[in-house]
Amino acid sequence: MTKLHYPLVSKIFDQEDIKSGIKVLNSKNITMGKITKKFENYFKKTLGCKYSAMTNSGSSAILLILQTLINPYRKNKLKPGDEVLIPAICWSTSLWPIIQSQLKPVFVDVDKNTLNIDINDLKKKITKKTKAIMLIHVLGNCTNMSEIILIKNKYKLILIEDNCEGLGTKFNNKFLGTFGDFGAYSFYASHQISGGEGGMITCSNFEDYEIIKSLRSHGWSRELSVNKKTIFKPNKNHNKKFTFFNSGYNLRPTEVSAAISFSQFKKLRKIKKNRKNNFNKIIKILNKEIICKKNLYFFNENKNVDPCWLAFPIILKNKKINKKIFLEKLYSYGVESRPIISGDFTLQPAAKIYNLKKERHKNSRFVHNYGFFIGLSSRNIKNNQLLKIKNSFIKSFEYLNNL
Ligand SMILES: Cc1ncc(COP(=O)(O)O)c(C=O)c1O
Repeated sequence: MTKLHYPLVSKIFDQEDIKSGIKVLNSKNITMGKITKKFENYFKKTLGCKYSAMTNSGSSAILLILQTLINPYRKNKLKPGDEVLIPAICWSTSLWPIIQSQLKPVFVDVDKNTLNIDINDLKKKITKKTKAIMLIHVLGNCTNMSEIILIKNKYKLILIEDNCEGLGTKFNNKFLGTFGDFGAYSFYASHQISGGEGGMITCSNFEDYEIIKSLRSHGWSRELSVNKKTIFKPNKNHNKKFTFFNSGYNLRPTEVSAAISFSQFKKLRKIKKNRKNNFNKIIKILNKEIICKKNLYFFNENKNVDPCWLAFPIILKNKKINKKIFLEKLYSYGVESRPIISGDFTLQPAAKIYNLKKERHKNSRFVHNYGFFIGLSSRNIKNNQLLKIKNSFIKSFEYLNNL
Protein backbone atom coordinates (compact mmCIF):
# COMPACT_ATOMS: atom_id res chain seq x y z
CA MET A 1 0.00 0.00 0.00
CA THR A 2 1.20 3.55 -0.80
CA LYS A 3 2.49 5.44 2.21
CA LEU A 4 1.06 8.94 1.95
CA HIS A 5 3.28 11.71 3.26
CA TYR A 6 0.65 14.31 2.31
CA PRO A 7 -2.90 12.97 2.76
CA LEU A 8 -6.05 15.05 2.16
CA VAL A 9 -7.00 14.91 5.81
CA SER A 10 -4.45 15.40 8.55
CA LYS A 11 -4.97 14.65 12.23
CA ILE A 12 -6.04 17.90 13.82
CA PHE A 13 -7.15 17.18 17.37
CA ASP A 14 -4.83 18.28 20.16
CA GLN A 15 -4.90 17.14 23.80
CA GLU A 16 -7.30 19.95 24.74
CA ASP A 17 -9.84 18.82 22.10
CA ILE A 18 -9.57 15.20 23.22
CA LYS A 19 -9.94 16.13 26.90
CA SER A 20 -13.09 18.14 26.17
CA GLY A 21 -14.62 15.09 24.46
CA ILE A 22 -13.63 12.76 27.29
CA LYS A 23 -15.07 15.16 29.86
CA VAL A 24 -18.46 14.88 28.17
CA LEU A 25 -18.22 11.08 28.04
CA ASN A 26 -17.39 11.02 31.75
CA SER A 27 -20.38 13.23 32.53
CA LYS A 28 -22.59 10.55 30.90
CA ASN A 29 -24.71 13.32 29.28
CA ILE A 30 -23.91 12.64 25.67
CA THR A 31 -27.09 13.82 23.97
CA MET A 32 -27.43 17.48 22.93
CA GLY A 33 -27.41 19.73 25.99
CA LYS A 34 -25.71 22.63 27.76
CA ILE A 35 -22.38 22.50 25.90
CA THR A 36 -24.10 22.57 22.51
CA LYS A 37 -26.06 25.64 23.64
CA LYS A 38 -22.89 27.33 24.91
CA PHE A 39 -21.10 26.60 21.62
CA GLU A 40 -24.04 27.93 19.59
CA ASN A 41 -24.00 31.19 21.58
CA TYR A 42 -20.23 31.61 21.31
CA PHE A 43 -20.36 30.83 17.58
CA LYS A 44 -23.01 33.42 16.75
CA LYS A 45 -21.33 36.10 18.89
CA THR A 46 -17.94 35.47 17.26
CA LEU A 47 -19.34 35.57 13.74
CA GLY A 48 -21.69 38.46 14.47
CA CYS A 49 -25.06 36.98 13.61
CA LYS A 50 -28.36 36.74 15.41
CA TYR A 51 -29.23 33.06 15.73
CA SER A 52 -27.38 29.75 15.49
CA ALA A 53 -28.35 26.09 15.80
CA MET A 54 -25.94 23.17 15.73
CA THR A 55 -26.66 20.04 13.67
CA ASN A 56 -25.03 16.66 13.19
CA SER A 57 -23.53 17.69 9.82
CA GLY A 58 -23.29 20.44 7.23
CA SER A 59 -25.62 18.42 4.98
CA SER A 60 -28.25 18.37 7.75
CA ALA A 61 -27.84 22.13 8.15
CA ILE A 62 -28.63 22.67 4.45
CA LEU A 63 -31.56 20.23 4.55
CA LEU A 64 -33.06 22.06 7.54
CA ILE A 65 -32.67 25.44 5.82
CA LEU A 66 -34.47 24.26 2.66
CA GLN A 67 -37.20 22.55 4.67
CA THR A 68 -37.66 25.78 6.64
CA LEU A 69 -38.20 27.69 3.39
CA ILE A 70 -41.19 25.48 2.47
CA ASN A 71 -42.55 25.02 5.99
CA PRO A 72 -46.23 25.95 6.58
CA TYR A 73 -45.25 28.08 9.60
CA ARG A 74 -43.12 30.35 7.40
CA LYS A 75 -44.55 33.59 6.10
CA ASN A 76 -43.86 33.78 2.32
CA LYS A 77 -43.02 30.09 2.16
CA LEU A 78 -41.70 28.86 -1.17
CA LYS A 79 -43.95 26.81 -3.47
CA PRO A 80 -43.17 23.64 -5.44
CA GLY A 81 -41.32 24.54 -8.63
CA ASP A 82 -39.88 27.82 -7.31
CA GLU A 83 -36.36 28.20 -8.64
CA VAL A 84 -33.12 28.17 -6.62
CA LEU A 85 -29.88 29.22 -8.35
CA ILE A 86 -26.85 27.06 -7.56
CA PRO A 87 -23.33 26.88 -9.06
CA ALA A 88 -22.63 23.79 -11.19
CA ILE A 89 -19.49 23.19 -9.10
CA CYS A 90 -21.35 22.18 -5.96
CA TRP A 91 -21.52 19.45 -3.34
CA SER A 92 -24.22 16.78 -3.57
CA THR A 93 -25.96 17.84 -0.37
CA SER A 94 -25.90 21.53 -1.37
CA LEU A 95 -28.11 20.39 -4.25
CA TRP A 96 -30.35 17.50 -3.15
CA PRO A 97 -32.19 19.32 -0.34
CA ILE A 98 -33.46 21.73 -3.05
CA ILE A 99 -34.96 18.82 -4.98
CA GLN A 100 -36.08 17.02 -1.82
CA SER A 101 -38.03 20.20 -0.97
CA GLN A 102 -39.78 20.13 -4.38
CA LEU A 103 -37.95 23.26 -5.53
CA LYS A 104 -36.17 23.52 -8.85
CA PRO A 105 -32.38 23.91 -9.00
CA VAL A 106 -31.11 26.12 -11.82
CA PHE A 107 -27.40 25.69 -12.47
CA VAL A 108 -25.08 28.66 -12.89
CA ASP A 109 -21.56 28.50 -14.31
CA VAL A 110 -18.50 29.36 -12.21
CA ASP A 111 -15.71 31.87 -12.72
CA LYS A 112 -12.61 29.83 -13.54
CA ASN A 113 -10.32 32.38 -11.89
CA THR A 114 -11.97 32.07 -8.49
CA LEU A 115 -13.87 28.73 -8.75
CA ASN A 116 -16.86 30.60 -7.31
CA ILE A 117 -20.17 31.46 -8.97
CA ASP A 118 -20.00 33.55 -12.17
CA ILE A 119 -21.99 36.69 -11.32
CA ASN A 120 -22.74 37.51 -14.98
CA ASP A 121 -24.21 34.07 -15.57
CA LEU A 122 -26.10 34.35 -12.27
CA LYS A 123 -27.82 37.53 -13.47
CA LYS A 124 -28.76 35.85 -16.77
CA LYS A 125 -30.43 32.95 -14.96
CA ILE A 126 -32.81 35.09 -12.87
CA THR A 127 -36.48 34.67 -13.91
CA LYS A 128 -39.82 35.48 -12.29
CA LYS A 129 -39.70 32.06 -10.65
CA THR A 130 -36.30 32.64 -9.02
CA LYS A 131 -36.74 32.83 -5.27
CA ALA A 132 -33.36 31.97 -3.76
CA ILE A 133 -29.63 31.65 -4.33
CA MET A 134 -27.66 28.74 -2.88
CA LEU A 135 -24.22 30.33 -2.86
CA ILE A 136 -21.22 28.07 -2.29
CA HIS A 137 -18.02 29.58 -0.95
CA VAL A 138 -15.49 27.33 -2.63
CA LEU A 139 -12.57 26.02 -0.53
CA GLY A 140 -12.50 29.17 1.63
CA ASN A 141 -12.55 31.72 -1.20
CA CYS A 142 -15.65 33.67 -2.21
CA THR A 143 -17.12 35.86 -4.92
CA ASN A 144 -17.80 39.59 -4.68
CA MET A 145 -20.33 39.61 -1.83
CA SER A 146 -21.19 43.30 -2.32
CA GLU A 147 -22.49 42.47 -5.80
CA ILE A 148 -24.37 39.43 -4.51
CA ILE A 149 -26.14 41.58 -1.90
CA LEU A 150 -27.11 44.12 -4.59
CA ILE A 151 -28.64 41.29 -6.67
CA LYS A 152 -30.37 39.81 -3.61
CA ASN A 153 -31.94 43.15 -2.75
CA LYS A 154 -32.85 44.09 -6.32
CA TYR A 155 -34.72 40.82 -7.02
CA LYS A 156 -35.82 40.20 -3.39
CA LEU A 157 -34.12 36.81 -3.27
CA ILE A 158 -33.44 34.63 -0.26
CA LEU A 159 -29.69 34.15 0.13
CA ILE A 160 -28.39 30.88 1.54
CA GLU A 161 -24.63 30.71 2.03
CA ASP A 162 -23.31 27.18 1.93
CA ASN A 163 -20.27 28.06 3.98
CA CYS A 164 -19.31 24.46 4.72
CA GLU A 165 -15.91 25.20 3.14
CA GLY A 166 -15.35 28.77 4.33
CA LEU A 167 -15.57 29.04 8.11
CA GLY A 168 -13.31 31.91 9.22
CA THR A 169 -13.06 33.66 5.84
CA LYS A 170 -13.99 37.35 5.79
CA PHE A 171 -15.12 39.54 2.92
CA ASN A 172 -14.65 43.26 3.61
CA ASN A 173 -13.93 42.32 7.21
CA LYS A 174 -17.27 40.50 7.66
CA PHE A 175 -17.45 36.72 8.19
CA LEU A 176 -18.84 34.59 5.36
CA GLY A 177 -22.11 33.00 6.39
CA THR A 178 -23.42 36.26 7.82
CA PHE A 179 -24.26 38.09 4.57
CA GLY A 180 -27.42 36.18 3.70
CA ASP A 181 -30.60 34.97 5.38
CA PHE A 182 -28.96 31.65 6.27
CA GLY A 183 -25.43 30.27 6.64
CA ALA A 184 -24.54 26.56 6.76
CA TYR A 185 -21.24 25.24 8.18
CA SER A 186 -19.59 21.82 8.37
CA PHE A 187 -17.33 20.41 11.06
CA TYR A 188 -16.42 17.28 9.10
CA ALA A 189 -12.92 15.87 9.58
CA SER A 190 -11.13 17.74 6.77
CA HIS A 191 -12.69 21.13 7.47
CA GLN A 192 -11.25 24.24 9.17
CA ILE A 193 -12.55 23.00 12.51
CA SER A 194 -13.91 19.56 13.24
CA GLY A 195 -15.89 17.55 15.73
CA GLY A 196 -15.49 14.39 13.63
CA GLU A 197 -18.93 15.23 12.25
CA GLY A 198 -21.06 18.28 12.96
CA GLY A 199 -22.58 21.38 11.42
CA MET A 200 -24.12 24.73 12.25
CA ILE A 201 -26.85 26.98 10.89
CA THR A 202 -26.84 30.73 11.35
CA CYS A 203 -29.83 32.87 10.44
CA SER A 204 -31.10 36.38 10.83
CA ASN A 205 -34.81 35.83 11.47
CA PHE A 206 -36.31 34.61 14.77
CA GLU A 207 -39.19 32.70 13.16
CA ASP A 208 -36.83 30.85 10.81
CA TYR A 209 -34.70 29.99 13.87
CA GLU A 210 -37.73 28.58 15.68
CA ILE A 211 -38.78 26.49 12.65
CA ILE A 212 -35.21 25.17 12.28
CA LYS A 213 -35.12 24.06 15.94
CA SER A 214 -38.50 22.35 15.65
CA LEU A 215 -37.49 20.48 12.46
CA ARG A 216 -34.13 19.54 14.02
CA SER A 217 -35.87 17.65 16.84
CA HIS A 218 -38.92 15.65 15.77
CA GLY A 219 -41.14 18.74 15.40
CA TRP A 220 -41.65 18.74 19.15
CA SER A 221 -42.00 21.74 21.42
CA ARG A 222 -38.84 21.37 23.50
CA GLU A 223 -36.27 24.18 22.97
CA LEU A 224 -38.95 26.33 21.30
CA SER A 225 -40.52 29.60 22.38
CA VAL A 226 -44.11 28.58 22.94
CA ASN A 227 -46.33 31.51 23.79
CA LYS A 228 -49.18 33.55 22.38
CA LYS A 229 -46.84 35.96 20.60
CA THR A 230 -44.69 33.38 18.77
CA ILE A 231 -45.52 31.07 15.85
CA PHE A 232 -45.89 28.08 18.14
CA LYS A 233 -48.89 28.85 20.37
CA PRO A 234 -49.78 26.75 23.39
CA ASN A 235 -53.22 25.14 23.61
CA LYS A 236 -54.95 24.14 26.77
CA ASN A 237 -53.60 20.58 26.66
CA HIS A 238 -50.06 21.80 26.03
CA ASN A 239 -47.59 19.21 27.28
CA LYS A 240 -44.14 20.80 27.56
CA LYS A 241 -42.31 17.66 26.44
CA PHE A 242 -44.65 15.86 24.11
CA THR A 243 -46.47 18.44 22.03
CA PHE A 244 -45.65 18.20 18.33
CA PHE A 245 -46.10 21.49 16.48
CA ASN A 246 -44.34 20.65 13.25
CA SER A 247 -43.06 17.88 11.00
CA GLY A 248 -39.48 16.96 11.78
CA TYR A 249 -36.30 14.94 11.70
CA ASN A 250 -33.70 14.11 14.28
CA LEU A 251 -30.62 16.00 13.05
CA ARG A 252 -29.20 16.99 16.44
CA PRO A 253 -25.48 16.79 17.18
CA THR A 254 -24.13 14.82 20.10
CA GLU A 255 -22.75 16.73 23.06
CA VAL A 256 -19.36 15.08 22.37
CA SER A 257 -19.07 16.52 18.86
CA ALA A 258 -20.26 19.90 20.19
CA ALA A 259 -17.54 19.89 22.89
CA ILE A 260 -14.76 18.94 20.45
CA SER A 261 -15.96 21.41 17.78
CA PHE A 262 -16.21 24.14 20.43
CA SER A 263 -12.67 23.46 21.63
CA GLN A 264 -11.44 23.72 18.03
CA PHE A 265 -13.52 26.80 17.24
CA LYS A 266 -11.77 28.74 20.03
CA LYS A 267 -8.54 28.25 18.06
CA LEU A 268 -9.96 29.42 14.71
CA ARG A 269 -7.75 32.53 14.55
CA LYS A 270 -4.58 30.41 14.87
CA ILE A 271 -5.93 27.76 12.49
CA LYS A 272 -6.64 30.46 9.89
CA LYS A 273 -3.15 31.90 10.22
CA ASN A 274 -1.52 28.47 9.82
CA ARG A 275 -3.69 27.53 6.84
CA LYS A 276 -2.89 30.82 5.13
CA ASN A 277 0.85 30.40 5.75
CA ASN A 278 0.78 26.79 4.53
CA PHE A 279 -1.11 27.84 1.41
CA ASN A 280 1.46 30.52 0.57
CA LYS A 281 4.41 28.23 1.33
CA ILE A 282 3.10 25.57 -1.09
CA ILE A 283 2.64 28.16 -3.87
CA LYS A 284 6.13 29.50 -3.24
CA ILE A 285 7.94 26.17 -3.31
CA LEU A 286 6.07 24.85 -6.38
CA ASN A 287 6.48 28.12 -8.27
CA LYS A 288 10.26 27.88 -7.83
CA GLU A 289 10.28 24.77 -10.03
CA ILE A 290 10.03 25.62 -13.74
CA ILE A 291 8.17 22.41 -14.57
CA CYS A 292 5.50 23.18 -11.95
CA LYS A 293 5.23 26.86 -12.84
CA LYS A 294 4.84 25.97 -16.51
CA ASN A 295 2.18 23.31 -16.03
CA LEU A 296 0.21 24.30 -12.95
CA TYR A 297 -2.13 27.22 -12.24
CA PHE A 298 -2.47 28.27 -8.59
CA PHE A 299 -5.20 30.40 -7.04
CA ASN A 300 -5.12 33.55 -4.97
CA GLU A 301 -7.91 34.86 -2.80
CA ASN A 302 -10.44 37.08 -4.55
CA LYS A 303 -10.38 40.87 -4.05
CA ASN A 304 -11.36 42.02 -0.50
CA VAL A 305 -11.20 38.43 0.79
CA ASP A 306 -9.27 37.44 3.90
CA PRO A 307 -9.34 33.66 3.40
CA CYS A 308 -9.38 30.73 5.78
CA TRP A 309 -8.47 28.17 3.10
CA LEU A 310 -9.94 24.69 3.26
CA ALA A 311 -7.57 23.15 0.72
CA PHE A 312 -5.07 23.90 -2.03
CA PRO A 313 -6.74 23.95 -5.50
CA ILE A 314 -4.72 23.51 -8.71
CA ILE A 315 -5.57 23.60 -12.43
CA LEU A 316 -3.45 21.77 -15.00
CA LYS A 317 -2.47 24.46 -17.49
CA ASN A 318 -1.12 22.05 -20.04
CA LYS A 319 -4.12 20.30 -21.58
CA LYS A 320 -1.93 17.57 -23.03
CA ILE A 321 -1.26 16.23 -19.53
CA ASN A 322 -3.41 13.20 -18.76
CA LYS A 323 -4.91 14.23 -15.39
CA LYS A 324 -5.86 10.71 -14.36
CA ILE A 325 -2.36 9.30 -14.92
CA PHE A 326 -0.73 12.40 -13.38
CA LEU A 327 -2.81 12.18 -10.19
CA GLU A 328 -2.30 8.42 -9.91
CA LYS A 329 1.44 9.01 -10.08
CA LEU A 330 1.23 11.86 -7.58
CA TYR A 331 -0.61 9.48 -5.24
CA SER A 332 2.01 6.79 -5.72
CA TYR A 333 4.61 9.39 -4.67
CA GLY A 334 2.64 10.12 -1.50
CA VAL A 335 0.38 13.12 -2.30
CA GLU A 336 -3.37 12.48 -2.19
CA SER A 337 -5.74 14.60 -4.29
CA ARG A 338 -9.41 14.81 -5.23
CA PRO A 339 -11.81 16.75 -7.51
CA ILE A 340 -12.71 20.36 -6.71
CA ILE A 341 -15.83 19.83 -4.58
CA SER A 342 -17.40 17.16 -6.82
CA GLY A 343 -16.46 18.72 -10.14
CA ASP A 344 -19.29 19.81 -12.46
CA PHE A 345 -22.15 18.12 -10.62
CA THR A 346 -24.31 18.02 -13.75
CA LEU A 347 -21.87 15.42 -15.13
CA GLN A 348 -22.40 13.04 -12.20
CA PRO A 349 -24.49 9.90 -12.79
CA ALA A 350 -26.98 11.01 -10.10
CA ALA A 351 -27.64 14.24 -12.02
CA LYS A 352 -28.34 12.23 -15.16
CA ILE A 353 -30.81 9.93 -13.36
CA TYR A 354 -32.70 12.99 -12.11
CA ASN A 355 -32.47 14.64 -15.54
CA LEU A 356 -30.69 17.73 -14.22
CA LYS A 357 -28.21 18.22 -17.05
CA LYS A 358 -29.82 20.85 -19.25
CA GLU A 359 -26.91 22.89 -20.60
CA ARG A 360 -23.15 22.90 -20.87
CA HIS A 361 -21.31 25.10 -18.34
CA LYS A 362 -18.06 25.94 -20.06
CA ASN A 363 -16.01 27.01 -17.05
CA SER A 364 -17.40 24.34 -14.72
CA ARG A 365 -16.54 21.71 -17.33
CA PHE A 366 -13.02 23.19 -17.56
CA VAL A 367 -12.58 22.99 -13.76
CA HIS A 368 -14.01 19.45 -13.85
CA ASN A 369 -11.53 18.33 -16.52
CA TYR A 370 -8.36 20.08 -15.38
CA GLY A 371 -8.86 20.92 -11.68
CA PHE A 372 -8.05 19.04 -8.49
CA PHE A 373 -7.03 19.87 -4.95
CA ILE A 374 -4.54 18.68 -2.37
CA GLY A 375 -4.97 19.00 1.40
CA LEU A 376 -4.10 21.80 3.78
CA SER A 377 -3.30 21.32 7.44
CA SER A 378 -4.34 23.47 10.39
CA ARG A 379 -0.83 22.92 11.79
CA ASN A 380 2.25 24.65 10.45
CA ILE A 381 3.75 22.69 7.59
CA LYS A 382 7.41 21.70 8.07
CA ASN A 383 10.13 22.40 5.49
CA ASN A 384 10.90 18.72 4.94
CA GLN A 385 7.22 18.09 4.21
CA LEU A 386 7.20 20.93 1.68
CA LEU A 387 10.24 19.42 -0.04
CA LYS A 388 8.54 16.03 -0.23
CA ILE A 389 5.45 17.63 -1.83
CA LYS A 390 7.61 19.44 -4.36
CA ASN A 391 9.56 16.28 -5.23
CA SER A 392 6.36 14.27 -5.68
CA PHE A 393 5.12 16.81 -8.23
CA ILE A 394 8.46 16.85 -10.07
CA LYS A 395 8.68 13.05 -10.19
CA SER A 396 5.08 12.82 -11.51
CA PHE A 397 5.89 15.26 -14.33
CA GLU A 398 9.10 13.36 -15.11
CA TYR A 399 7.15 10.11 -15.31
CA LEU A 400 4.73 11.66 -17.85
CA ASN A 401 7.60 13.14 -19.88
CA ASN A 402 9.23 9.71 -20.14
CA LEU A 403 6.10 7.92 -21.38
C1 LIG B 1 -19.77 22.83 -0.16
C2 LIG B 1 -20.19 21.77 0.81
N1 LIG B 1 -21.45 21.75 1.24
C3 LIG B 1 -21.88 20.82 2.11
C4 LIG B 1 -21.05 19.85 2.61
C5 LIG B 1 -21.58 18.83 3.55
O1 LIG B 1 -21.01 18.88 4.84
P1 LIG B 1 -20.99 17.57 5.76
O2 LIG B 1 -19.94 16.65 5.24
O3 LIG B 1 -20.69 18.09 7.13
O4 LIG B 1 -22.33 16.96 5.69
C6 LIG B 1 -19.72 19.81 2.18
C7 LIG B 1 -18.82 18.76 2.68
O5 LIG B 1 -17.67 18.69 2.49
C8 LIG B 1 -19.27 20.79 1.26
O6 LIG B 1 -18.01 20.81 0.80
